[in-house]
Amino acid sequence: MDQLVEIRNLVKEFHGRGLLARKRAAFRAVDRVSFDIEKNTIFGLVGESGCGKTTVSRALLYLDPPNSGQVRFAGTVLGELSGNVLRGYRRRMQIVFQDPNSALNPKMKVGASLEEGLINLGIPKSQRLKRVEEMLELVGISPSHRNRYPHEFSGGQKQRVVVARALTMQPEFLVLDEPVSNLDVSIQAQIINLLLDLKDRLSLTYLFISHDLNLVAYLSDRIAVMYKGRIVELGSTEQIMERPVHPYTLRLFSASPSLHGTIQSNGKIQESESAPGHISGCPYAVQCERKDSSCLEQEPELHDLGGGHLVACIHSGKTNPA
Ligand SMILES: Nc1ncnc2c1ncn2[C@@H]1O[C@H](COP(=O)(O)OP(=O)(O)OP(=O)(O)O)[C@@H](O)[C@H]1O
Ligand SMILES: [Mg+2]
Repeated sequence: MDQLVEIRNLVKEFHGRGLLARKRAAFRAVDRVSFDIEKNTIFGLVGESGCGKTTVSRALLYLDPPNSGQVRFAGTVLGELSGNVLRGYRRRMQIVFQDPNSALNPKMKVGASLEEGLINLGIPKSQRLKRVEEMLELVGISPSHRNRYPHEFSGGQKQRVVVARALTMQPEFLVLDEPVSNLDVSIQAQIINLLLDLKDRLSLTYLFISHDLNLVAYLSDRIAVMYKGRIVELGSTEQIMERPVHPYTLRLFSASPSLHGTIQSNGKIQESESAPGHISGCPYAVQCERKDSSCLEQEPELHDLGGGHLVACIHSGKTNPA
């Protein structure tokens, strides 16, 4: 197996915002997260709002470097690279965010937005224009529309432009951070199909982030379920869909497809009542239907149920053997 991305024990802490931030205890938004993404596959990262999905991706891309842990991209440890070399690697890894409106400068023609990164790479004008037109065409936007401003496009078209901009850098790896959750449902499928098509045509590898387990399952080869900064279950899509084990994964399922119902218009899932900052033992215990006193004794580590299906629950396998 050829792994393009390998992350190990990634930790990202924040001190919070505001006056007393420095004095406040660090808050661990990402806690010892590890996974591999095989070349030419889609890895789905799923979990409710605030669980740390975006923070994982930003740390992975070294946009906001991790406090500890390791990221290997195409065999190279990113944390060991100097700024210049790291920039070269970053070009190979691009990110597409949820909201195409904030991703595009409203005062810039989209062609100029697409050209920006190429100017930074020192690519001559004629080649830049050629690549911009090619990329627009690839995402289904007429190349002549490069002279239009973002407001002249619909939401779905804007997201196509954002994807085209990422592609101008000729990346091998794309992080898709909720790329369709701001779009009309009728448009979502078009963008998903476009992304699948581009993956095949350009041999891309994706990290697909979403709170929608059904969507993640539809697209992904492997899935990691995240809860409060930790991965609580990880496996092939088949393992997660057919034999889900962690009570939190089961809850995501029981909420699906009506998971949509609990998602607010801003894409956030409603938090369940109790979410205290820190407890000993399993972080999910406060909400877990299956907890007993042993759950509070120590934090469960991920263990392999077989075939690389990992779960962090001491009761896993008891009622739902893999
Ligand atoms: N720059 C920051 N400073 C302080 N706290 C942060 C920062 N960025 C994220 N956080 C906190 O880290 C936690 C994880 O946030 P993150 O944005 O990664 O979650 P998410 O899973 O992407 O959520 P969503 O589905 O809403 O996008 C949250 O509690 C968030 O408030
Ligand atoms: Mg996010």
